[in-house]
Parts: sequence; C-alpha cells; structure tokens
Amino acid sequence: MEEKVLKLLEEAKMALQAAKSLRELDDLRVRYLGKKGEVTALLKGLGNLPPEERPAAGNAVNRARKEIEGLLNSRKILVQEEERSLKVLSETLDISLPGVRRERGHRHPVTQVMEEILDVFAGLGFSVRVGPEVEKDYYNFEALNFPKDHPARDMQDTFFIREDVVLRTHTSPVQVRTMESEEPPLRIVSPGKVYRHDYDVSHSPMFHQVEGFMVDEGVAFSDLKGVLEEFVHQFFGPKVPVRFRASFFPFTEPSAEVDMGCSMCLGKGCRVCKDSGWIEILGSGMIHPEVLRYVGYNSEKFSGFAFGMGMERIAMLRYGIDDIRLLYEGDMRFLEQF
Ligand code: DAH
Repeated sequence: MEEKVLKLLEEAKMALQAAKSLRELDDLRVRYLGKKGEVTALLKGLGNLPPEERPAAGNAVNRARKEIEGLLNSRKILVQEEERSLKVLSETLDISLPGVRRERGHRHPVTQVMEEILDVFAGLGFSVRVGPEVEKDYYNFEALNFPKDHPARDMQDTFFIREDVVLRTHTSPVQVRTMESEEPPLRIVSPGKVYRHDYDVSHSPMFHQVEGFMVDEGVAFSDLKGVLEEFVHQFFGPKVPVRFRASFFPFTEPSAEVDMGCSMCLGKGCRVCKDSGWIEILGSGMIHPEVLRYVGYNSEKFSGFAFGMGMERIAMLRYGIDDIRLLYEGDMRFLEQF
C-alpha cells in the first residue's frame, strides 16, 4: 500500500510540475483529490486492509494528500503569475507603429475672416443682425436713397428676381430693416452673402460683405474714423497706416473710402496696390439724412455712420491670395493651407 502511495505521489508531483495553465492544474486537482480521484480512492481502499496495516497506510495517504494539496496551491500561484505576465507582454503598446491618420476639417478662410471681423466689432460693442438675400428693391435701393432711374444704380450689376425684387447687391439694406424696427442707440454689424453680375480675378457673382453702422445722438465723423482705424489696427496690425479718401455713395454724406498701407509691399508700391502703396478696403460715410427720414428717425436729433466691406477682399489681403476664384473652387490643396 505504501509503495502504491509513493508511486502515486511521484506521478502527481511530475504532473503538477508540468502543468502550464490554471485549467490543467484544476484537472489534476480533480484527478487526484476529487470525489472520484485517485487519492480519494486510496482512502476508500483503506477499509480493505488488515486492521493492523490501516494506521500506517492511512498516515501515508494523508501525507500524500497534504503534499499534493500544498504543491497544487504553490503551482497555482506561479502559473497565475505566468499567465498574467504573458498577457501583459501580449498587450504591450508598440509606439513605433505608424498611427491611424484622422482627417480633420476646418472652417473656410472666408468664414474664418468673417468670424474674426465680427469678433473685433463685438469688442467695440457692436451686435449682429442679418437680413434676407432675396430683397425688395425698396430696401436694396429706394430707402438707401437710390431713386428709380438714378444713375448710381448702375454701380451695381443687379440680378433681378422680379421688377421690384432683387438678389441683394450689398448688405446695406440691413441698415434700413434694423432702423425700421429698432430705436437708437444702435451699434450693428451684419454679415452675409451678396450677389452681382460680375466675374473675373477679383469679382465673383456671389461674395460676402459685412455691413456696420452706429446711430445715436451726436455721432460724428470722428467716431467713424476712430472705429474704423481701430478695426484695421486690430485686424491687420497696430502699425498699419490708414487713410480716408473722399468718395460717393447715395446713402452717405459725406462718404469716404478707407485705404490701408499695402500689406504686400509695405507701402513701397507693387502690382497689388498698383504702385500706389495703398489698398482700398471699405466704403463708409455719415448716414444720409434722407435714409434716416425713410426709417422715421428724427435726423435733427440722431446721426450715424455706416461702412461696408467685402470679406473675400479682406481674406485675399490677409493671406496674399491673388484670384478670388480660388476661394470657391473647393480645391483641398488650396484650402488646407488655412
Ligand atoms: N454698400 C456699399 C457697396 O456694396 C458699401 C458701403 C459703402 C456700405 C459705404 C456702407 C457705406 O455702409 O457707408 O459697395
């Protein structure tokens, strides 16, 4: 009997040493110590021995059982540890692998410029209003002091929807719409699409403008100069020179166009500024008393200034783009540069 036990113990030890997984160890536990296991069978067999042999044999089987149990437990800990480190190894991050490139979109340069412009004016206390792109002749022309048959209507190549409805040629009608429904003091900017029958390197049939105006008691030309100079300095840089040049618009009197020092040649003279060193960036003026009268304001009490600028033009100057059409072709090689 004792020989049998020793043999079984040897066999069990070898099997336990060789086991490489928790599953194998568990199978061995069942095989030796389980209810129908081999050690259990030996214990059960004790009853068949002659009584005087039973104590020694019983002792031997119990010792073997304890030894197998101990070995099982220590192997279990080791195997568990091995399994864990294998898992950690197999999950190691290989930081030398090339990453998965994620495509990233961004805003169109014209949108970026529009947002920046609105930001500057927001900082100066202006808030935003918008108006319709399909506009009545009344708002696009009439109430802006372009009487019917006035030659100034020829300044803008209008797309007509009907005789009295147009695609707005500028954002100035938002001045009229806002003043009709709100009372001074007003400080408003209005971005949006405008349409003109025109197409070449610097004109597109659809483009974007930002309109701005301020109305209150005692608004003077010096306010216009201060606000627009501040805008140019914040947007293009604090040292950029600005000048106001007398001009004409039916809805402003006096009117001025604003030039800034050419950003391409820094005033030395180049193709972009036609050797003048200056670039026109916007139109402006004191709101014409006739326009104030159209919206029912008392022009004795209130005065205001207004301005309008083309956003594509500003974007082209900011980024040195020489053909407006590049902005609309949707060529990613171009757009990705912004
Ligand atoms: N609406 C003019 C245009 O499209 C731009 C403009 C000029 C707007 C003078 C104004 C202004 O508000 O005062 O050419």
